[in-house]
Amino acid sequence: MTNKPLKLVTIVGARPQLIKAAPVSNAIQRHNSKNPNRLIYEILIHTGQHYHYEMSQVFFDELRLKAPDYYLGVGSGTHGYQTGEMLKRIEEVLIKEEPDLVLVYGDTNSTLAGALAASKLGIAVAHVEAGLRSFNRKMPEEINRVLTDHISDLLFCPTPKAVENLQREGITKGVYLVGDVMYDAALQYSKLAGQKSRILGQLGLKPKQYALATIHRAENVDHPERIKSILTGLKAIAQSGLPVVLPLHPRTRKQLETLRLSTNGLYVIKPVSYLDMLVLEKNARVIITDSGGVQKEAFFFRIPCVTLREETEWVETVESGWNVLVGCDPIRILNAALETRLGVNPPWFYGDGQAAKNIVSVILNIFK
Ligand code: UD1
Ligand code: UDP
Repeated sequence: MTNKPLKLVTIVGARPQLIKAAPVSNAIQRHNSKNPNRLIYEILIHTGQHYHYEMSQVFFDELRLKAPDYYLGVGSGTHGYQTGEMLKRIEEVLIKEEPDLVLVYGDTNSTLAGALAASKLGIAVAHVEAGLRSFNRKMPEEINRVLTDHISDLLFCPTPKAVENLQREGITKGVYLVGDVMYDAALQYSKLAGQKSRILGQLGLKPKQYALATIHRAENVDHPERIKSILTGLKAIAQSGLPVVLPLHPRTRKQLETLRLSTNGLYVIKPVSYLDMLVLEKNARVIITDSGGVQKEAFFFRIPCVTLREETEWVETVESGWNVLVGCDPIRILNAALETRLGVNPPWFYGDGQAAKNIVSVILNIFK
């Protein structure tokens, strides 16, 4: 006898969510091919939060993600507009599809809208990357994380620290330490990246002879004095003889145009694909970033990281000496980037590359 498939809706919208969802989708497909009597039917909703080719479609093409079943086309806007439109449009799909479970990732507006739409309809919510905290409520991401965690039924934590954070807020039910899906992704796609990416040759870069930088956090980009100060720091690194490659996020590109800030001296390129990014990261001498995912990938590959923030959710990377928090001060950025610094080999926090498989196992156990 064949059981009724478990119906799961995955909600994505922003670049890092496409990368996080890939290993879980792969694990679902692997489960289905081995267990035709207990199928998981995955429906993919893309909110359209990110929509330019290099922020979205490139990841579907490269990671062979299944195409969205629903593309909601919400696009950009204020937090209220964006989250509100997503909430309305996701709700319509959930009412039609009546899934058993909704899976949301990370801490973007797409995460919160998905979790809220589902929980208001009484549909179970699973949050992948639960329990992270920067303890800075000025970050939109912190609000999204806290709210999503408090309305989730299953909380998939990447690290023991995340479990602790939830405990402190009184959340102990439905909490699972599964490991980090971004580590799964980095392991799964590294070999392919090595085979397929031509980015170093295309950009004329030599291993360990450049710095890789990314900037997109609203708390940096939306404050003219902070973004100016970061650019000054990056230019000082380039002037010292270490070229700085900067795949520019569209939020940052827009702000630089608005403020008429020059990037002369920096090697500015469009956002790159995930496989190209893995190769750029692995071969960088140092990574300078305000991205959550990029800080972690630097740690996975043991590349010294300089974080353009005052605090981080990924505290383990700092405690082990692989990451330093420098804020936006140009001198601190320059000094940290040029210092030859290697961290220690700390205990490993991010799981064993099986986080996605663990997530699928927990879901199957709960929805027997
Ligand atoms: C969002 C997330 C952030 C995450 C980041 C990953 C929220 C509140 N923020 O920030 O947590 O780290 O994604 O990259 O959810 N734009 C384009 N093309 C696109 C997408 C965006 O031009 O494909 C431009 C638009 O001008 C837009 C701006 O970038 O207004 C910001 O986009 P938005 O999705 O609102 O926030 P991100 O900064 O990308
Ligand atoms: N990334 C990418 N191309 C780029 C910049 C980043 O593929 O040009 C990947 C990066 O390797 C990581 C993820 O995007 O896996 C991080 O996303 P982002 O920095 O946009 O968001 P955050 O992690 O801060 O939420």
